[in-house]
Amino acid sequence: SVDFSTFTKQTGHTALDYGFVNTASTKSAITYIDGDQGILRYRGYPIEQLAKHSSYLEVAWLLLYGELPTADQLGEWDEKIRRHTLLHEDLKHFFSALPHTAHPMSVLSAATAALSTYYEGQSDPGNPEHVELNTIRMLAKLPVIAAYAHKKSIGQAFLYPDNSLSFVDNFLKLNFGNHAEPYEINPVMSRALERLLILHEDHEQNASTSTVRLVGSTGANQFSSISAGINALYGPLHGGANEAVLDMLARIRDSGESVQRFVERVKNKEDGVKLMGFGHRVYKNYDPRAKLVKESADEVLRELGVEDPLLALANELEEIALNDDYFKERRLYPNVDFYTGVIYKAMGFPTRMFTPLFAIGRLPGWLAHWREMQYDPQTKIGRPQQLYVGAGERDYPTEA
Ligand code: ACO
Repeated sequence: SVDFSTFTKQTGHTALDYGFVNTASTKSAITYIDGDQGILRYRGYPIEQLAKHSSYLEVAWLLLYGELPTADQLGEWDEKIRRHTLLHEDLKHFFSALPHTAHPMSVLSAATAALSTYYEGQSDPGNPEHVELNTIRMLAKLPVIAAYAHKKSIGQAFLYPDNSLSFVDNFLKLNFGNHAEPYEINPVMSRALERLLILHEDHEQNASTSTVRLVGSTGANQFSSISAGINALYGPLHGGANEAVLDMLARIRDSGESVQRFVERVKNKEDGVKLMGFGHRVYKNYDPRAKLVKESADEVLRELGVEDPLLALANELEEIALNDDYFKERRLYPNVDFYTGVIYKAMGFPTRMFTPLFAIGRLPGWLAHWREMQYDPQTKIGRPQQLYVGAGERDYPTEA
């Protein structure tokens, strides 16, 4: 194996690799992807099996510690996470300072950064007890922040977490419960959300995870690093795509434009329009998560008794794209974001909550990567090279 850092220092060669298409930034033992075969495994376990049999917290443990937990370990951990769901009362004033029109992703990243101010002196990346405690704090509190961002946007009062409920049911209640009537758990919704969260938990060195690692490599604490990851996820080419897909489908429906005509505009790159929810840097075959989400979409809408013409529109778009040479030649398939929005919408989430849902899903992966980086003795501060192409030396003009 080549020690690339020594190699570049010795030879003076620098690789220019826009978008890191061919450059590995680290070794990792967390997630395996084979993009040509459409394979995704967390710690060796196929995503299909985890989505079917596991829970969000069990998978989070697996990602963080490398093995599935015993029933006792999981029970104790779940209990601890429930005990940490409360936000400091002062942090609630933070939400009052923001406009109700604020995008929940901005609120989530800002409030996550603000969380660190409550734990100064307890956030030393080199202190394993701090790291452990803040892992639990973040898993417990970020869903509450995301739900409050939602409540704020619709002008409803915040609910206290109900620690008698499971992680997912608590989250659903915080989003959809109110002070006027008891909240009824809907098992179809709980299971569907749990499944979607599992599918999002990790995806190796994607843009947001790489951001978390890069920020973490400077010695920044978990709160700051994860807040940066949330901002990276917000972009429409990454996690923001789930929101963009629904907007795209609604625009096609409202404009009356045929799906075929829309696809033609995508192919002609008219106004830079893309088929959102299609294509992936790594998958050059059907994204295995998208396959599972698509199966869920039909089932969940049926079970929830929701009819949504946008699902039919999505199916039609997929059908046309998969049979079109433009998409075939470029190996563009639906990614995880293509069908998730239809399910979130059926559950009652507004479009702007879709990416925060992705963030809650991805949180265990971010935390696992931050820790893997932290405990890897080979970690160095991330500092890419550049090839300078600007002006040569010149003199500042002075009066003659
Ligand atoms: N619609 C139309 N054309 C596309 C699409 C798309 N969604 N995605 C890629 N292409 C085209 C590009 O225009 C390019 O065509 P060209 O060779 O004629 O120039 C070719 O396919 C290769 O695409 P790149 O942009 O080079 O692929 P890259 O790996 O850099 O980008 C990305 C991957 C960002 C995901 C891209 O496919 C995209 O923008 N998709 C839409 C946004 C999206 O769904 N993002 C979510 C990704 S999954 C996730 O983050 C959870």
